[in-house]
This record gives sequence, C-alpha cells and structure tokens, in this order.
Amino acid sequence: MSVNTISYEVDNEINKVIYSKEIDKFLIKDINDLKSDQKILFIYDKNISKKFIDGLKTKLKLTGNIVFFKEIEGKKINKNLNNLLKLFDELIKNKFTKNSIIISCGGGVVGDLCGLVSSLYLRGTIYFHIPTTMTAIVDSCIGGKTGINYKGIINSLGNYYHPKRVYISERIITDIPNREFFSGFAEIIKCGLIGNKKIIGYLNKDKYLFKRKNIQNLSKIILETLKTKISFFKNDIKEKNKRLYLNFGHTFAHAMEMTTDKYLKKDFLRHGEAVGLGMLCEIMMSQNTNEKKNSNNLYCMTKQLLEKYNLPTKLKIPNKLGRKIHSGIYDGVFLDKKTKNKYPRFISLKKICSPTIEEIKDFGALNDSIYKITQN
Ligand SMILES: NC(=O)c1ccc[n+]([C@@H]2O[C@H](COP(=O)([O-])OP(=O)(O)OC[C@H]3O[C@@H](n4cnc5c(N)ncnc54)[C@H](O)[C@@H]3O)[C@@H](O)[C@H]2O)c1
Repeated sequence: MSVNTISYEVDNEINKVIYSKEIDKFLIKDINDLKSDQKILFIYDKNISKKFIDGLKTKLKLTGNIVFFKEIEGKKINKNLNNLLKLFDELIKNKFTKNSIIISCGGGVVGDLCGLVSSLYLRGTIYFHIPTTMTAIVDSCIGGKTGINYKGIINSLGNYYHPKRVYISERIITDIPNREFFSGFAEIIKCGLIGNKKIIGYLNKDKYLFKRKNIQNLSKIILETLKTKISFFKNDIKEKNKRLYLNFGHTFAHAMEMTTDKYLKKDFLRHGEAVGLGMLCEIMMSQNTNEKKNSNNLYCMTKQLLEKYNLPTKLKIPNKLGRKIHSGIYDGVFLDKKTKNKYPRFISLKKICSPTIEEIKDFGALNDSIYKITQN
C-alpha cells in the first residue's frame, strides 16, 4: 500500500499528514488504536461524491463505534455562528465527551468550522480531518487555524487547533471540480514565491501534466507545498514572526472577498482566486524606485503563473459598481488582522523567497494597486 507521511510537532504532540490512495485503512487503524469513548461525529461536505462519503461511512460503522453523521454545504456563508452552535447541539445531545472523535471531510469551510468546534467543545476533543478541495489539501488542512466569519468579517472568530491526523486521499483529487481544483494552485504559487523555488520549477513545467490531474506530479507538488508551509509555521504557531509570511496576498484577498460578497454575490471569488489577485496587489505595493525592475519581473512571472493555472488576474466587476467596490476593498484592507498600530500591514515581496512585512503608509500606492486589479 503506497503512502507518504509527513509528521510535525506542535506543543509536544506529533501530528501527521497521511497521503495515500487507501486513506480509509489508515483512518480505521488510528481510530482502533485510540483510547476514545467510541463515539464519532463525522461531518462532511454535501457536494463530495456520494461514493466517497458512503465508502467512509460504511468503514466507520464497521469499527463498532457509535457514529453520528452531519452534512454541511461548504459555502463561505456557512462558516457562521449558527452552524457552529448547531454542531455543539449535536455533540451535547449525543453526550459526546473529551474522548470522543470529530472527523471532518470537506474543503476549507468545513475544516475551519469543524476545527473550531473541536477546539471549543469541552476545551478540546480528538480531531481528524480529510481535506477535499485543492485549497484544503495544500493549505488549510495544516497549521491549525480555525474560524468562522462574523459580522461580515472573515475569520473574525477563531483560534488555533491542530487536527491530530490529516488524511489526503489520492482518489478524491480526481473528483474535485475544476474551479476548486485550480483555486488551490494560488496557495501553491504563494508557497513557491515566498519560500521554495523548487515549487516554481514544478509549476513552470508543462501545465498539461497538472491539468490532466497527473497524480504523480500532483503528489510531488502537494507534499512539497505542505512541507514548505510547515517550515513557516513550526515554532511560530501564533504568527508572531515567520508564519506571517504565509499571509502573502491575504491583506488584499480578504478585502476583495468581503467586498465582492457584499456587493456582488456570496462566493463570487473563491479564496484561492482572491489570494492570486491579492499577491499581484502586494507585489505592486512592494515596489520602490530601486527595486522596481525586480518587482516588475516578479509581477509578470506571478501573473503568468496565475494565468497558466486558470486563475484570474483581474477582478471583473460591472462598471456601475466600480467605485463602490474600489472603496470597499480600500476600507477592507484596514480591517486586516495583522494591523498593529494605525497602519495596515501586508507581506512585501521584492525578490522571490525574500518576504518581509511592511506597513501601508502610502495610500496613493494602495489606491493605484486596487485600481490596476479592478480596471477592465
Ligand atoms: N485554516 C486555514 O489555514 C485556511 C487556509 C486557506 C483557506 N481557508 C478558508 O477556507 C475556505 C475556502 O475553502 P475552499 O476553497 O476549500 O472552499 P469550500 O470549502 O468553500 O469548498 C468550495 C466548494 O467545493 C465543494 N466541494 C468541496 N469538496 C468537494 C469535492 N471533493 N467534490 C465536489 N465538491 C466539493 C464545496 O461544497 C463548495 O461548494 C475559506 O473560508 C478560507 O477562509 C482556511
């Protein structure tokens, strides 16, 4: 049975990512090896193929544990307080304890919501996660960030809680709808740009290898991206230092997601699509006279990579909403969680693999970068 395992330590606990075609075998073994109270809540995204979910349900029932099921739709609007409370109600109704197991199966929405539930219920239950979108596979499944959106602000309520195990199924990769598949490439490009030139090398190879979902190439790039992410967050879980660089693109991405959710429609932009656009804005913001040439090259390279992986490089908005959306994004930048004093911060990248954190003090440059990304 072919398997790749990545282990990493957080707070003296070893967590593992298991990448295999046969994740169910590893999942069942881990459940059987645990000293749990034999209760499982399996929460899964409603849009995942029935065959995949039914297969897991059957295997879970065969463990002899009492298994409860809950279906949620992975829309960003569902990462909300109401769903959080509904999951607590389910746990309380069925008398779950600290030694019960929560297993989530879905994209970033289901993962962020279930991670938060697992961390808060009785101050922490046993938590396993099965990521099912490309964004979740290469990014949100590790690092321990959990959260919900509240009052229109992305991830305004959340904390850090790491799944004990993450199971990445090679089988699910071929099921991922195209939009969710390519959306995850923004986080892959991000990891390459801030910390691993090898990833950029892989991405620059023949795109059709990835478009055809060639599993061998994909597994190489997935594992490399996860290892790069771990190198940024280990020893800095709470984002005091190096981990902040993983936010490259996100100051603008979150502002764009919140604004388009408000003025256009919910989920207008996938998270990964917004991160791609956000990276372009942040590279523009990184430019100063001395390094303009480097930044221009980096901007062109990033743009080409985004285009190659079907990601947008312009935010297409109706003309009549242009002003509203421009100022929505501008104001949204000031809501960024990295803000320390009065100025919002962003990750500046003047040269590949050399990120730094900077304050936005030049509001003219801020306006220009938003203009460039929204202008048709
Ligand atoms: N915690 C973190 O570190 C972190 C990192 C990145 C993103 N996020 C969060 O993740 C969320 C976005 O996650 P996402 O991009 O995975 O989107 P998502 O969870 O919203 O899923 C996108 C769509 O794909 C569907 N889907 C999921 N898996 C599927 C499958 N296998 N087959 C068919 N359909 C499937 C969902 O139902 C949904 O319609 C955002 O809320 C973002 O803030 C968190």
